[in-house]
Amino acid sequence: MDAIRVRGGKPLKGTVKISGAKNAALPILCATLLSDGQSRLRNVPALRDIDTTAALLRFLGRNVRVNAPEVHVDAGSDVRPEAPYELVKQMRASVLVLGPLVARFGRAKVSLPGGCAIGARPIDQHLKGLEAMGCKIRLERGYVIAEGPNGGGRLRGAEVAFDLPTVTGTENLMMAAALAKGQTTLVNCAREPEVEELGRVLNKMGATVDGAGTDVIHIRGKDQGELEPFDHAIIPDRIEAGTYMCAAAILPGGDVIIEGAEIHDLEALVMKMRAAGVEVATEGQSIRVRRNGPLRGVNVTTAPHPGFPTDMQAQFLVLMCTAASESVITETIFENRFMHVPELLRMGGNIALRGNTAVVDGAERLYGASVMATDLRASASLIIAGLAAEDETEVRRVYHLDRGYERIEEKLGGLGATIARVRGAES
Ligand code: EPZ
Repeated sequence: MDAIRVRGGKPLKGTVKISGAKNAALPILCATLLSDGQSRLRNVPALRDIDTTAALLRFLGRNVRVNAPEVHVDAGSDVRPEAPYELVKQMRASVLVLGPLVARFGRAKVSLPGGCAIGARPIDQHLKGLEAMGCKIRLERGYVIAEGPNGGGRLRGAEVAFDLPTVTGTENLMMAAALAKGQTTLVNCAREPEVEELGRVLNKMGATVDGAGTDVIHIRGKDQGELEPFDHAIIPDRIEAGTYMCAAAILPGGDVIIEGAEIHDLEALVMKMRAAGVEVATEGQSIRVRRNGPLRGVNVTTAPHPGFPTDMQAQFLVLMCTAASESVITETIFENRFMHVPELLRMGGNIALRGNTAVVDGAERLYGASVMATDLRASASLIIAGLAAEDETEVRRVYHLDRGYERIEEKLGGLGATIARVRGAES
């Protein structure tokens, strides 16, 4: 397994370009199952999760060519509507093939994703919505077996109220509804920009989707064969952008332009960074982050969009480790998303965990150490901590990082960081 070594102590300076959004590309790749013909995705990041999704689509019978930043998908000779455990266990988002498969082919067999490091992450809301659309669902030996009405018939439009906003739950049902008979109304939807982006693509395909990006979405389904392939450039990755914003702010003197970021997708983060004393300004399609004086401790509670993103909690917590006053970070979305904390304690962080809350006392400084990555965003937070420590930090098991950050050592190196990948390091 690879490791990344970083020797910090000097502030980042320069310009970094943001890649396409992983969490937009994944559902949009799954949407290609809704039609035949060749679809073209542009501005797709070169990431493990993209490769995993491509492998899954091939397994389902699609021809997929990944040539980042482009991906071409078209129908293969046959379809096998089955997503095996071996692929789904690598990436929970594989569950996003469930809605398109059962809507298009009348049946699907998809492995239950199982939990992951950050939590149990059930899919009960996905299944409840599909049942409301006439789907027969049964769970068998770790798989979801889904069948359209009357033994594989067409889904029916329905009214579905989510018990809580779920990003991939909203996306799965939007795709299922795009081929269902009649109108579907989804209430209490996730409002993330990536959901809105999927709505744009489904409309490009010929579906009628209104309200994507708000908490109520109306979808009028098309008949089989009426949805068209599409050509679409993916929006920038707001979480990658936010990660570089925190990296820029971790040391006094940081001055970084994050190119291609959409600041209005990051308003909650920007407000908290400004409250902490970081200068954040927009310059056209870019965000400029400057760190001059000391950081103030700022309290944060994660929430569904447009609240503070759970995917930015670990990165912001590292920033607070170097603040001059206390901060309280509360994680409300996942039940186990503080696995970066024990590693940060080994780097000199002063953090006390109490259930889903971390009380962070600013430390004089952070120290380099050998640390273990546990999940995608925790890995990024350890790299940021390494940038603050004057000596060397080695982050192991960086395959977590490679799932969601394209060429991170190259991009950070371009900002002046002393960082390198060590191939095949002990894990
Ligand atoms: C998406 O995951 C993202 N992944 C996650 O990003 C992100 O952390 C998460 O949304 C929250 O913003 C992709 O978009 C591929 P949820 P998702 O369903 O859809 C509970 C990253 O770092 N829930 O919105 O799986 C669930 O347990 C990843 O890029 C149910 O109870 O998250 C959680 O507590 C990590 N039942 C909450 O809802 C359900 O049926 C939000 O989960 C579905 C979800």
